Amino acid sequence: MTQSVRDELYSQEVASPEKFKFDESVANVFEDMIQRSVPGYGMTLSLMPLIAKRYGQENSKIYDLGCSLGAGMLALHAGLLKETKIIGVDNSQSMLDRCRQNLDQSMPKATFELLHEDILETAISDASLVVMNFTLQFIAKEKRSSLLRKICDGILPGGVFLLSEKIEFSDQCIQSEMIKLYHDFKKRQGYSELEISQKRDALEDVLLPESIETHKQRLAEAGFARSETWLQCFNFVSLIAFRD
Ligand SMILES: C[S@@+](CC[C@H](N)C(=O)[O-])C[C@H]1O[C@@H](n2cnc3c(N)ncnc32)[C@H](O)[C@@H]1O
Repeated sequence: MTQSVRDELYSQEVASPEKFKFDESVANVFEDMIQRSVPGYGMTLSLMPLIAKRYGQENSKIYDLGCSLGAGMLALHAGLLKETKIIGVDNSQSMLDRCRQNLDQSMPKATFELLHEDILETAISDASLVVMNFTLQFIAKEKRSSLLRKICDGILPGGVFLLSEKIEFSDQCIQSEMIKLYHDFKKRQGYSELEISQKRDALEDVLLPESIETHKQRLAEAGFARSETWLQCFNFVSLIAFRD
C-alpha cells in the first residue's frame, strides 16, 4: 500500500465543518482513517481471502464496489486459487489513483480492472463474488433496493455477496450503549473528543446507517436466498448473502 499518512483532518476546531466527501484530503489519509475508525476492519480484510478461496469461480468476475485504495481487492486476490478477474469500482478519482498504484505494486500479475463510475451505473454480470465494504451506507436509501437487485441478478449460481456496514439498533438503549463503546474505541485509537464530534457532524446526513433487520429484509427482497452476519464489532457488521 502507498505510505499511510496519519488522519488529523478533524483535529483543528472549525466553525462549521464541511460535509464529508471522499476527496483528495480524505484519500491521502484514508488507510489510517479506516483502520482507526472501523472496529473489525482489519479482521474483515484478514478473513476475505477465505471467502475468495471458497467462492471465487474459475473465469468468473469478482467486484469490489467502493474499492477505495484497493485493500479489499488485495485481500480477495490473496485467497483466489482460480483465474478470476477482479473489478474495483469507485467514483472518487483520488481514491482510484492511489488504488492503481497499490495494485500495480502489490499484485502486478493479477487481472484487474478499475472503473471510475457511480456504482449505481455499474453493469454486473458473471460474478461469483461481489463485495461492498462500508459503501452502501453512502447511497441514498431509496436507491439501495434496486442496487441490491442488480447485484443479485449479476451473481452466478453458487455465488455470494459480502456487505459490510455501520449499523444502528432499533432498541434505543442498545443503540446508545454501542455508540458509547464505539466512541471509547475511537478514543483508544488516538482520536480526541473534538475529532470525534467534528467528524460525526461532517458525516451527518452523508453516512446513513440502517438496522441489520432492514439489511436482511432488503437482501431477501433483492432475491438472495439467505443472509447472515459473519462478523460484528459494536455497530459495525459484515453480512454474507447467498444467491441460492
Ligand atoms: C468507506 S469507503 C469504502 C472502503 C473500502 N471498501 C475498503 O474496504 O477499504 C467508501 C468508498 O465508496 C466510494 N463511493 C461512495 N459512493 C459511491 C458511489 N455512489 N459510487 C462509487 N463509489 C462510491 C467512496 O469514494 C469511497 O472510496
